Amino acid sequence: MRAMRHYHACRDAADAALRFVDIGWSNCYPDACMKRTGSATAAVTGAAGMLGQDVCRYAPTWAAVAGLTRADADLSVAEQARTALEAVRADVIIHCAAYTDVDGATCDPNAAWRGNVLATRNVAAVAAQLGARLVYISTDYVFDGASDSPYTESDEPSPINAYGESKLLGEREAAAVEDSVIVRTQWLYGPGGRNFIRSILSAARGGKSLRVVDDERGHPSYTPDLAHGIWRLIETDATGIVHMTNTGVCSRLELAQTALEYAGLDGSQISGIASADWVSPTRRPLNAVLESERTGELGISPLRHWRDAVREYVALLCHEWDGGDAPGGSGAGESMA
Ligand SMILES: NC(=O)c1ccc[n+]([C@@H]2O[C@H](COP(=O)([O-])OP(=O)(O)OC[C@H]3O[C@@H](n4cnc5c(N)ncnc54)[C@H](OP(=O)(O)O)[C@@H]3O)[C@@H](O)[C@H]2O)c1
Repeated sequence: MRAMRHYHACRDAADAALRFVDIGWSNCYPDACMKRTGSATAAVTGAAGMLGQDVCRYAPTWAAVAGLTRADADLSVAEQARTALEAVRADVIIHCAAYTDVDGATCDPNAAWRGNVLATRNVAAVAAQLGARLVYISTDYVFDGASDSPYTESDEPSPINAYGESKLLGEREAAAVEDSVIVRTQWLYGPGGRNFIRSILSAARGGKSLRVVDDERGHPSYTPDLAHGIWRLIETDATGIVHMTNTGVCSRLELAQTALEYAGLDGSQISGIASADWVSPTRRPLNAVLESERTGELGISPLRHWRDAVREYVALLCHEWDGGDAPGGSGAGESMA
């Protein structure tokens, strides 16, 4: 509430000074660490990550954005977090940085705790001290996925793996800051990072036959769409938890088949497998489908259907692989926390 009033006051003020944020000591991504003119200052943590890059890239004109990467600060070290964030003096902090290696968290829960709980505690402390609005990005993995119905913002979380536990504890750190917002999303993919769709297409182009889990369901969510949604959310009075994903639900197998179809690749090389037969150190929620009972009343339009977003992303990837400009990500490998 405080943040929205501030933005509107700045935007409406005839003499609102254009401000620049210059974190000259940063070596962050040219695309991710942008200087923009604006009437409010936003710090984006995890600015070199898949979502953080797009949150920086699609900032509205009212926001002067400073993207912070790990090279600027290890946020799990309180002093580094404080120094980096104080230098920006942000009105809003969009905390995209996180420990996102799901199997890594299972094997080393302490690393997940440092990256998702301690780092968020440190960011939250600076937000509280600066009076900045904190936006924390969270995940469907805070739910067990055992329900037949979608999970809304009022459902009680019950994570079943160390990654989900650490993200839930991170939510609680963020929630302690007045006016904070927790955005839960799922199955992210986008131009700025390794992800499931990129891995599937890369393997298929290499002629590999593929097995994909067919009993895990969710909303695939495209980071450019989510970034727009997050900025739109910041322009509202919203506090507390908000679920935000692209529209439409599918299984992992259906997502993979759709991506292959849009890429013009042979779908016969792919087959389904039950998650129980998939060898992994981590239990994953099967049906942690997120639904929002809040975005409508906040006046936020639903993000487009996942098929439309996948079509756009696959076209970008194919363009890159056909020798066009790279959209940003590198290498194959799955990042769908
Ligand atoms: N990917 C998904 O499918 C998914 C689904 C639901 C929710 N989410 C949530 O969405 C958010 C963004 O995810 P993403 O996929 O964009 O993640 P990502 O690509 O892994 O980016 C996370 C970024 O945070 C940085 N980081 C991690 N620990 C840090 C620390 N201690 N100090 C400073 N920087 C640190 C990482 O740097 P390094 O690379 O150097 O470690 C990385 O650049 C996260 O909160 C995640 O939990 C993701």
